[in-house]
Amino acid sequence: MKIAVIGTGYVGLVTATCLAESGNEVIGIDKDAGKIATLEAGRLPIYEPGLLELVQRNRREARLAFTTDLAGGVQRADLVFVAVGTPQAADGSADLTALWAVADAFADVLNGPKILIIKSTVPVGTNRAVADRVAARVRHPVDVASNPEFLKEGAAVDDFMKPDRVVVGVRRPEVGEALRELYTPFLRTERPFLVMSPESAEMTKYVANAMLATKISFINEMANLCERMRADINDVRRGIGHDERIGFQFLFPGAGYGGSCFPKDVHSLICMARQAGLLPRIMQAVNEVNEAQKRVLGQKIRAHYGADLKGKTLAVWGLAFKPRTDDIREAPALVLIDELLAEGVTVRVHDPEAIPNVRAVYGDRLVYCDKPYGALEGADALAVVTEWQEFRRPNFDVVRGLLRAPVVFDGRNLYEPQAMVARGFTYYGIGLQGGGGPGTT
Ligand SMILES: NC(=O)c1ccc[n+]([C@@H]2O[C@H](COP(=O)([O-])OP(=O)(O)OC[C@H]3O[C@@H](n4cnc5c(N)ncnc54)[C@H](O)[C@@H]3O)[C@@H](O)[C@H]2O)c1
Repeated sequence: MKIAVIGTGYVGLVTATCLAESGNEVIGIDKDAGKIATLEAGRLPIYEPGLLELVQRNRREARLAFTTDLAGGVQRADLVFVAVGTPQAADGSADLTALWAVADAFADVLNGPKILIIKSTVPVGTNRAVADRVAARVRHPVDVASNPEFLKEGAAVDDFMKPDRVVVGVRRPEVGEALRELYTPFLRTERPFLVMSPESAEMTKYVANAMLATKISFINEMANLCERMRADINDVRRGIGHDERIGFQFLFPGAGYGGSCFPKDVHSLICMARQAGLLPRIMQAVNEVNEAQKRVLGQKIRAHYGADLKGKTLAVWGLAFKPRTDDIREAPALVLIDELLAEGVTVRVHDPEAIPNVRAVYGDRLVYCDKPYGALEGADALAVVTEWQEFRRPNFDVVRGLLRAPVVFDGRNLYEPQAMVARGFTYYGIGLQGGGGPGTT
């Protein structure tokens, strides 16, 4: 099939590349000339494991190309995916500016029947609004389908190649069949292809993210309570997870969720509910708990040192909102860094991939270290905010030797509290008996 993908960000670039990998002829379109130039030079504008090799191979085999020319790209395609950003607007709703711009541009250059497929996460009713808007401007028939994306940054290629399920929202069965054909190569392990109305497809994406965000806020609230009750969330987690109705997944306490999806999608769902005259109590609570959770590490640090942090130096490991990505949108690490900077703390940071993005925000206000141990030199303590694999088993003798004092604030419960104390550390985790610290394990 001939396919255009508009928006070559985290979702669009993976979509375009994986569709090319399955034999389609794909053009990735973006208005960001810098991104397109980077891609044309055979490099990636983002970090995503396994993606570079696929992009390079498919470009070499002439199945994948990139352009800023929306008209040319759209006119050659039968299927046109939209994967532009839908960030949070000031009022909490989804900002659809980019989507409308693309819908109008698409309508203006339409040269024959095509299927427009909305992959961006958009409020329920957007499919209908886009269809009406395009129909008002064109003479050719246009089907607008919804195909929400469930990939996870850091595992995006695998998720796209072997999805749990593919959801499409269509108004005509023929459109569903065209999309089924497109996705068949990815569904060979009997994964379901679910056809529903566009409204249900749009809603499915929000409900999935809301459920996941709810699990995180739930376990974080329970972790904070464990600390006060002198219980240990690690034991409690094991104690509940063996119940198959509960399970272990997505029930790890931490420093709060971030990223470009959960925060904005929860807010967008809250707006949708309010507009529909409902009170979204759970979603409001999920959001409030998360905002508070992003401040828990800062509270533990203040509690350890007393009121005055001025003049201290803190090392921060992990800046991306989660491991295996360079994405720092809404990352909990940024909340901690802002708090520390406001208190006059010198902050030495390390992340395997996210430093360029962090530097673009903070400039010379932080000390950037390209090695984890480098960040520890002369620091009064270490705070771990993102659970990159390489932070899980450091050489603790080296860590203790480099830090001015052996103090670790572990925002992801990566380390075993008793072992840390035995190694001579003052150790704070999330949801541990008494919150960690001296004499608590
Ligand atoms: N990032 C994720 O993990 C993820 C997962 C599932 C769904 N989503 C959803 O997918 C959508 C895209 O997310 P993302 O993280 O890839 O965003 P992104 O910001 O990384 O990428 C969006 C791209 O769209 C481009 N763009 C914006 N306006 C354009 C226009 N008029 N013409 C051409 N290109 C334009 C931007 O330049 C950018 O490259 C969002 O709705 C998001 O909620 C994201």
